[in-house]
Amino acid sequence: MSENIISICLDNQVLRHHGAVAGTTGYGKSNTNSNIVMAAIKMGYCVFLFDHKPDYQNLEQPNDEKDLFQNLEKPNDEKDLVMDLEKPNDKKDLVIHPKWEPQGFDCTVDYFSLSDDKSRKANAKEKLINVYASSFDPYQLASALFHKRGEDVPQENMTLLLNAYKDKQEEYNKYTWALKEAIEWIRGLDKGTMSDVLGGGSITGNSKTAMLRKLQARSMPWMDRMEEDSSARKLPGLGSPQKRLALEIDVPLLIKGKTVNVIRVGQSQGRDYGLFLSFLLERVYNAKASNPDLPPILYLIDEAQDIFSGSKQLREACEDMLDANMRKGRSLNIAFWYGLQRFSALPESISININSRIIMAHKQADEVKNALPGASKEILGLVTQLKRGEALVSLFGSTSIVQAKMHPSKALLTKE
Ligand SMILES: Nc1ncnc2c1ncn2[C@@H]1O[C@H](COP(=O)(O)OP(=O)(O)OP(=O)(O)O)[C@@H](O)[C@H]1O
Ligand SMILES: [Mg+2]
Repeated sequence: MSENIISICLDNQVLRHHGAVAGTTGYGKSNTNSNIVMAAIKMGYCVFLFDHKPDYQNLEQPNDEKDLFQNLEKPNDEKDLVMDLEKPNDKKDLVIHPKWEPQGFDCTVDYFSLSDDKSRKANAKEKLINVYASSFDPYQLASALFHKRGEDVPQENMTLLLNAYKDKQEEYNKYTWALKEAIEWIRGLDKGTMSDVLGGGSITGNSKTAMLRKLQARSMPWMDRMEEDSSARKLPGLGSPQKRLALEIDVPLLIKGKTVNVIRVGQSQGRDYGLFLSFLLERVYNAKASNPDLPPILYLIDEAQDIFSGSKQLREACEDMLDANMRKGRSLNIAFWYGLQRFSALPESISININSRIIMAHKQADEVKNALPGASKEILGLVTQLKRGEALVSLFGSTSIVQAKMHPSKALLTKE
C-alpha cells in the first residue's frame, strides 16, 4: 500500500453506481454519508435520505465538532489534491481543492416524516408523509400487515378480501380509499359473501374478529392520515371538528435537482418502512422513466440492517424489491447507497450489485468477508483495528483498495 496523501474523490461515475458504507456504531458512517450527499448535490442530484435515528435534521448548519477539522492532513497548507477519477489513468490531473471546513448544505433541504412521534429532534420544517392504502397492490399490503410466522392464512384471506374490496370500489369509480373503510366493509360481510370472496373457504367469527383487530393494531402512521376538514359545515352541537383523508404525497413533485429530501423514519418498523420504500421507489421510477429531463437520483438508506432484520418473508419481499429497483434503476441514473452496521447484513442478492464499498471498523473480520472481493485475509483483518473515521475503500472503477481517513461531515449532524 502506498502512503501518499491523495483524497478519495466521488465523481459522477462512482456515485451513479450503487454503494455501501458499513461499520460498527459510532465509527463515522453518518459523517461519511453526509459528505456523500453533499457531493451528490454538487453534481445536481436529487437525494432521498432515509434518516433513522435521526442524524440528518440540521443539514443547513455547519458541523460544530470543530476539533475534527484541525490537523486534517494537507499536502501543503491550504490545498488538497484530488484525483479526477473520470479521466483515464495516464491523463489524471491533480486538481486543487479548497480547505475542508464546516459548512451547511446550501441547497433546498426538505424534511418529511413517516412517524408522528413529534420527536424534539425533528426539523421544524418537517411535513408528515401520507400514502393511501389504495395505492398498494392488495397482496403487498396484506403481506406487510400479516408478516409474522404462522400468519399465512390470514395473509391469504386478507389478500382476497382486499382484492374484492378494491374491485367493488372500482366498479363505482372509486380509486382512493383508506384501510379503515376496507376493514368496515369486511366487518359487515355476511357469511355467504365472505365464503364467495374466499373462494369457497370459510372463516370463523372469532378468526375474523382477531384478524380485524390485528389489522387495526398494525396500522401504519403514514398511511391514510386524517386531517381537519375546514370546508365542512360546522354542525351545531357537534363537538370535534370533522375529519377527512389528507392528500397523498405527490412524489414526482419531490424530484428536483440539487435537493435533499430527508425522510425521518422514527418509530416505523422494518415492515412498514419496507412498504413505504416500495411505494416511493415505484413512483420515482415511473416519473424518471416518463421524463428523461428529471435529475439523477440518489437513495441513501442509512441503518439498512433494519430492513433486512425483519421476518424472513418481509426480508425477502424487500430484498426482491430493492434488487429489482437497483437493476432497473441503473439505466435511469438511480443509485442506491446503503449505510449499515455490518456489511454482512446485506443479503447476497444486494451485495453483489454494490459497486463501491466504504468499510469502516467492524467487530469481527468475518462480517466483511463479502465486502472487498479479492482482498487478502490480512487486509480484511484490518477492519477490526480501524479508528473513528478510517475506512477501507474500494470505489467503482478502481482496482485497488485504499486505507483512508475520511473527512468529517461538513454539515452538522443531529445530536443526542
Ligand atoms: N471522519 C471522521 N474523522 C474524525 N472523527 C470522526 C469522523 N467521523 C466520525 N467521527 C467521530 O465519531 C463520532 C460518530 O460518528 P457517526 O455518527 O458518523 O458514526 P456512525 O457510524 O454513523 O454511528 P451510528 O452507528 O451510531 O449511526 C462523531 O461524532 C465524531 O466525533
Ligand atoms: Mg450513523
